[in-house]
Amino acid sequence: MISPASLLVLLLTLLTHWPPQAQPTDTSDVSGMITQVCDHTLNGKLCRSVLESGGPASDYSELARIALRAAMANASAIFNHVDSLVRAGDPDPFVRQCLSDCSDDYQDAMDQIEDSLAALETRGYDDVSAWVGAAMNDADSCEEGFKSKTGYRSPLTDMNEAFHDICTIIIAISHLLIET
Ligand SMILES: *[C@@H]1O[C@H](CO)[C@@H](O)[C@H](O)[C@H]1NC(C)=O
Repeated sequence: MISPASLLVLLLTLLTHWPPQAQPTDTSDVSGMITQVCDHTLNGKLCRSVLESGGPASDYSELARIALRAAMANASAIFNHVDSLVRAGDPDPFVRQCLSDCSDDYQDAMDQIEDSLAALETRGYDDVSAWVGAAMNDADSCEEGFKSKTGYRSPLTDMNEAFHDICTIIIAISHLLIET
């Protein structure tokens, strides 16, 4: 025989666990957010590794900050690498010119990532995207420099592509921020 008290407990248990498998809402579900972002990028593997390495995030804005910090670290590592190539002093004046241009490109890219971070803090998501787009163009023009003369290969292709791909993550997140 069921007592009224245990019936009440049963009822409360049912109520508090209803619906049976409640899905977490979009913004509290970090892996759902990361999937949402990375599905909008070409290099999903890199996207996940960048966003998962940045510590806990509870919204798209924090994911954008994580990706921007990764982009900054990347640009500055590439800038230092280019600097070491410049200082090594290639005998070929064309290569020296390309490397010097790449050094300027990545200096600009770092400034633009800074501007993008500042825009994120004031919720200027269009500007977040615009500044990162400019930084992405810098990486592309570094790459194009070497291609502008036949017989030359960029020593920075992998790095330029990685930086470019990190930038596309930020652009994907800023589009989600603009939509929501
Ligand atoms: C840039 O970031 C990518 C992705 O995290 C990484 O694979 C690559 O090694 C980084 N490049 C430099 C120069 O740090």
